[in-house]
Amino acid sequence: MRRGFGSDNHSGVHPQILAAMVAANVEHAPSYGTDEWSELALKAFREHFGPSAQVFFVFNGTAANVLSLKSAAKTFQSCYCTDISHLNVDECGAPEVMAGVKLISLPSKLGKIQLEELKKAHIRRGDQHCSQGQIISLTQPTEVGTCYSLRELNEIISWAKSERLYVHIDGARLANAATTLGLSLRSLTTELGVDVVSFGGTKNGLMMGEAVVFLNPQLATDFKYHRKQLGQLPSKTRFIAAQFTAYLQNNLWKDIATHSCNMAESLAQRVSDIRAVQVTHPRESNAVFAKIPKEWIKPLREKYFFYVWNEHTFECRWITSWDTTPEDIDGFSQSLKELSQ
Ligand SMILES: Cc1ncc(COP(=O)(O)O)c(C=O)c1O
Repeated sequence: MRRGFGSDNHSGVHPQILAAMVAANVEHAPSYGTDEWSELALKAFREHFGPSAQVFFVFNGTAANVLSLKSAAKTFQSCYCTDISHLNVDECGAPEVMAGVKLISLPSKLGKIQLEELKKAHIRRGDQHCSQGQIISLTQPTEVGTCYSLRELNEIISWAKSERLYVHIDGARLANAATTLGLSLRSLTTELGVDVVSFGGTKNGLMMGEAVVFLNPQLATDFKYHRKQLGQLPSKTRFIAAQFTAYLQNNLWKDIATHSCNMAESLAQRVSDIRAVQVTHPRESNAVFAKIPKEWIKPLREKYFFYVWNEHTFECRWITSWDTTPEDIDGFSQSLKELSQ
């Protein structure tokens, strides 16, 4: 198979996580989250997010996002997100259809929601004709690989609290942001007053599985019913739980994130001095975005798979993962160099 930089879900399962699944593959175990692996995973999550975190596993990130919104907002309420957020552009309308929550997409800068745009949009409170803003969703790291700083998060979340808005983090790659910023998962979420997190596993070395982590336990009350109704209650929960326990223990989450981010940094450095390659966003996680000449795309993609992020500007997205090797970076940057000559 062709290797490449298509996505961090193109890579396989991290060996330590696969080993944890194999270790869980013994005898019989109760289902639907009542097994001992789920208890261990809950303990691991609480070590990272604090003792009152409530944790629920689902199969994918779209469901984690949709169910997070459904727990926080009613059908006459809305969610503020960016124009480029996964919620808004890559979930096929699931938040509107499945959660019944209106999305209000706002212009972003470097992939981030802007406080002044939030303030502009947050109007007509109590007006029965207008969907009522209820929750803000922030993607961390953003869809273009940048990270909200603690200061930026603090500003947005303090304002949200002053307006009684809930805060959701789409953390499909939260570990990468924590590693880049040198912060714990708790200081990026719980300590800031975040209400609910979609915590990613699949893009970070798991076979599959995401966790909805409620830091505001009040929002979790009806989650188990909503999850079941949306077909997201895993029965053999032990296999998702075992993966997360392995991931969260012994700093594996940090090792994986550090490796992925280091590989992206190396890629960013190697390509930035190649003629006609223009890196478009600061490299702050495991993604490099760059514009390259249109005619390079086909020959390059014959060797390494990747996505064209913007079909009009030919900005490309190169994603690294736990299994990206220095040889991958060498080979890819060498191919780019050859095209530039
Ligand atoms: C930022 C972000 N959120 C959520 C998801 C959800 O992913 P999926 O439903 O494909 O598991 C993705 C996947 O690309 C993502 O990049």
